[in-house]
Amino acid sequence: MDVFESLESTVRSYCRGWPATFDHASGSWLFDENGRAYLDFFAGAGALNYGHNNPVLKRALLDYLERDGITHALDMYTTAKRDFLHAMSDIVLRPRQLNYKIMFPGPGGANAVEAALKLARKVTGRQSVINFTHAFHGMTLGALSVTGNSMKRGGAGIPLVHATPMPYDNYLDGQVPDFLWFERLLQDSGSGLNEPAAVIVETVQGEGGINVARAEWLNGLARLCARHDIVLIVDDVQMGCGRTGPFFSFEIAGIEPDIVCLSKSIGGYGLPLALTLIKPELDIWEPGEHNGTFRGVNPAFVTATTALRTYWQDDTLEKDTIAKGDRIGAALTRLARQTPGVPMTPKGRGLARGLAFESGALAGKVCAAAFERGLLMETSGPDGEVVKLMPPLTMTNDEIESGLGIVADSVAAVASA
Ligand SMILES: Cc1ncc(COP(=O)(O)O)c(C=O)c1O
Repeated sequence: MDVFESLESTVRSYCRGWPATFDHASGSWLFDENGRAYLDFFAGAGALNYGHNNPVLKRALLDYLERDGITHALDMYTTAKRDFLHAMSDIVLRPRQLNYKIMFPGPGGANAVEAALKLARKVTGRQSVINFTHAFHGMTLGALSVTGNSMKRGGAGIPLVHATPMPYDNYLDGQVPDFLWFERLLQDSGSGLNEPAAVIVETVQGEGGINVARAEWLNGLARLCARHDIVLIVDDVQMGCGRTGPFFSFEIAGIEPDIVCLSKSIGGYGLPLALTLIKPELDIWEPGEHNGTFRGVNPAFVTATTALRTYWQDDTLEKDTIAKGDRIGAALTRLARQTPGVPMTPKGRGLARGLAFESGALAGKVCAAAFERGLLMETSGPDGEVVKLMPPLTMTNDEIESGLGIVADSVAAVASA
């Protein structure tokens, strides 16, 4: 570990909870340099929906590299990009009757968010953005300004402005009708609310603690945005690409956001790729107005295209994800019932699941106990109080059962301590 501790910045974080040196991985398993196996209930924070080194994606990638396919090309036209655009259109957008232009904003999720915010401001001529309590949108300054976590915000070193938080679904425990406060502020010329350019929302807040917005809440939000001519941005960086079941997490609400941010699993193989999907009438960028060196890593186009062709030509994966998610949800409900001394609340949708504890300390202990038993899980939520279960969508039912067994053992160990 010496070189990591002596040379790598103190900003490193995941390695602190998982003090192993990982060497290789396959499917739902990682192996450390001593050959110890770890089952993955983390999936690269949502970047590995199809598992590690998925053999179908790996074959396509190796073939592409072997034939000296283009690796780097900024935003030049390439055959790999053409294939990807066709796959997005034919397999994802057209069957869902969605009409979006596709922008490549940079390699990661925060790039997709920055581009979305910039474009909404350019289109509307307004500066202010509405975000939600416990939101997470990334670490760059624009994305951080619409993120809730105070520790992360503190890292900015400057005031984070031009964003106003509103209560996320159920933030007020159902005591207030949806959007009462938001709509009142919009309607009242004396409210002091700056007229918003955009609303940015996650349908399920991953980093915020696996908070699930109801379909009717999302639908109400879309209608509110339409009424007030506000650009609706859905940040599907973590919950898109099938994490909650359907390809886009907002499909259950029957809405069509103005802008959609995708990253993480869109590349399919854990390679960096991000998209900002834009309704055609909003695509008013000047050429090069949003630029960047890594806006389309071509090997990621290859694995992304292969993932779409392999997993999204029919609804098998979607149905599997929902069934597996229900199975995990039921197991967590049973576990909470069987451990009366330790209050726990199961949360989630599809294969984005969580178990909320009363404190971050407890949730952290459960994750540490799971790591000792060979299972990787992280915590989320403002105080790290939610144990987050996000296996690859391709995890088998047997693997899920064995992971859930470790979760139960870990909770029991922490409860008895
Ligand atoms: C919803 C959401 N948006 C944006 C981001 C930022 O993505 P990245 O870390 O690739 O910049 C994340 C990362 O976890 C996320 O969960």
